[in-house]
Amino acid sequence: MRIVVDLTRCQGYAQCVFLAPQVFELHGEEALLYDPDVPAGLLDRVRQAAAACPVQAILVGEQ
Ligand code: F3S
Repeated sequence: MRIVVDLTRCQGYAQCVFLAPQVFELHGEEALLYDPDVPAGLLDRVRQAAAACPVQAILVGEQ
């Protein structure tokens, strides 16, 4: 599964980092790094992170 984070939306709320630290990493307040290719074992956590992001910046693809 691939994800994209709309970095123009991300405001550094860090819910994604809290829920899936293996995928998301925050540098400073708004510089978010992430792995766009999510391993199968982390799908649920990444979906939770996408749902928890207050500005809906995380877009989850199904391929
Ligand atoms: Fe940004 Fe949303 Fe994560 S605002 S830091 S993508 S919870």
